[in-house]
Amino acid sequence: MSSLKKIKIIKPDDWHLHLRDKKILKKILRYTQTFYRRAIIMPNLNKPITNCKKAIAYKRRIINASQLNTKFEPLMICYLTKETSLQELKYGFFKKIFIGAKLYPDQSTTNSKTGINKISEIFHILELMQKINMPLLIHGEDNNFDIDIYDREAKFIENTLVLLRKTFPELKIILEHITTKEAVYYIEENNSPYLAGTITPHHLMLNRNNMFIGGIQPNLYCLPILKRNIHQNALRQAISNGSTRFFLGSDSAPHLYENKINLIGCAGIFNAPSSLLCYVTVFEEMKALKYFESFCSKNGPNFYNIPINKESITLIKKPYKILEKVSVGKEFIIPFLSGEILNWSIL
Ligand code: DOR
Ligand code: ZN
Repeated sequence: MSSLKKIKIIKPDDWHLHLRDKKILKKILRYTQTFYRRAIIMPNLNKPITNCKKAIAYKRRIINASQLNTKFEPLMICYLTKETSLQELKYGFFKKIFIGAKLYPDQSTTNSKTGINKISEIFHILELMQKINMPLLIHGEDNNFDIDIYDREAKFIENTLVLLRKTFPELKIILEHITTKEAVYYIEENNSPYLAGTITPHHLMLNRNNMFIGGIQPNLYCLPILKRNIHQNALRQAISNGSTRFFLGSDSAPHLYENKINLIGCAGIFNAPSSLLCYVTVFEEMKALKYFESFCSKNGPNFYNIPINKESITLIKKPYKILEKVSVGKEFIIPFLSGEILNWSIL
């Protein structure tokens, strides 16, 4: 009998994932499918997913790209613009085409140039979403050029989120990929059934120093950008105290090597091959393994009000080498922690 430590949990879901399209999609989907039963698919393609027709077609492309036999369900999101049609949104939500809608502040990140400039532009949309109980996912950064890049999340909370929640107190909001103590405290203090946050493995494992150790590290550039270690520690504390308001959202965001290592490099960290193993590593370091399953597999579905998965997955404490690169034709993508060894593997 093996004496290796094992953890069996309900198969998790990834509540924030970028899968892209075409040849990249085909190459990377398998990594998410191995570890996750469902995932929320971000709509920020070159041509964003702004209506039901595009969402249905994209979902089909994802399902058709599957190379594995494991069941996997993409959960689709509508990219909000000030032109989003109320009828379309309502229809998409009731027909279960969309599980939620996403607010990208204009120019805040990859493919967000048709995002929202002023939150009041979409109050009529938010009013409907509150009424029908449709979750709003937020990239929470204030994109005003005068604001320091490290302060953008805290300023978004101060300048936008507070007002938004005051105006729509029963709108379900997920503040995505939180990176600061301000976000952690805001969610904890409010402790509201209408407010939750997702946390990525890279923001739990790293801080802004890591971006510059030994030279600039373009593979660690993402948005929101890695912050000081006090913020990293606040995130690590947040997942360790068992709050049900935080859950897993990897923000795995692949870019081809040539687009990352360039004069102007893209933001995004491709962590799908190791995200779950990174999370378990952090929970173990924080002596918080008893909350690992709820973070990965229960808090998310409970917040979104959908059933918890029936399948399970077993992780085993055994060294695991993260693959060095994923080839995409003649090009390739470098995964997070490429070539490094983690202490946990999947059985
Ligand atoms: O680093 C990021 N990459 N942050 C985002 O918000 C978007 C993502 C992407 O799509 O590449
Ligand atoms: Zn993202």
